[in-house]
Amino acid sequence: MMNKNKGYVNQDYLSQAAQMFAPIKLNSYEKLQANNIHSLIDVGCGTGIDTTTIAQLHPQIKNIIGVDYDKEMVEQADKLAKEKECSDRTQHQHANSYELPFEDNSFDAVRAERLFMHLEQPEKALREMLRIAKPGGRMVIVETDWASMSVNNGLDELERRLSHYFANEFLNNGYSARRLPGQFKAAGIENVEIEIKSLQSYDFQLWLLLSQHTVMMEKALQDNFVSQKEFDAWNSNLEDNSSKKSFFSTINIMTFSCDT
Ligand SMILES: C[S@@+](CC[C@H](N)C(=O)[O-])C[C@H]1O[C@@H](n2cnc3c(N)ncnc32)[C@H](O)[C@@H]1O
Repeated sequence: MMNKNKGYVNQDYLSQAAQMFAPIKLNSYEKLQANNIHSLIDVGCGTGIDTTTIAQLHPQIKNIIGVDYDKEMVEQADKLAKEKECSDRTQHQHANSYELPFEDNSFDAVRAERLFMHLEQPEKALREMLRIAKPGGRMVIVETDWASMSVNNGLDELERRLSHYFANEFLNNGYSARRLPGQFKAAGIENVEIEIKSLQSYDFQLWLLLSQHTVMMEKALQDNFVSQKEFDAWNSNLEDNSSKKSFFSTINIMTFSCDT
């Protein structure tokens, strides 16, 4: 099971992130080529933002399943499906991506967004997702390339070290996005299209929230990865940049899509 303290995000986080990710989410739905599909599974579905939006956008998909191994997320996702009046076609269930409780070749489309960064065994989850996809179906995976995050701080060497710390120590699989092309190839899938979009933020408070920066910095200090002096200088530069309106950060989000 995922350690809730390692990269864990709560329901509020997911709804804030969904606003920033809205264009990326929409683009990922298009890549599902949803007009041609009748069954879809979203693995690591969280609060059901995507399952229920896809249900509303594509009434012809009669069987939409979301799975997540956090029971609270699953309950919230079912609640959202009821609120959005699509629960007749959209169900959510508790399941681990390593052992998906479905027969081989069950779904026309298999989707996952920002799941792989949490996985200690990403290859195993990818194999499972391919197993339950029908031959000739679609697969779409959206992942954040966390180590691509750039932050205008001034302490540029520390910025690179912190990027590595976040990807390597704060998450189970922070380099997930850049590892996926090789993992697809190892799983025998060659025809993967990769689209990379950069999210940009001038909004310091929103960035603090979405990057989980405060929690990460406190952990880095506790782990003695940064000294108190570096910690103070880093935070003071960020505050300074924010007050001078020179705060700026970017990060790459990768969308992988292929026929299965
Ligand atoms: C960052 S959230 C993304 C949620 C959703 N895909 C979205 O875009 O809003 C990652 C989700 O993956 C789930 N998760 C993590 N590890 C999992 C696993 N091994 N099996 C199933 N779900 C998992 C978490 O509980 C969480 O809901």
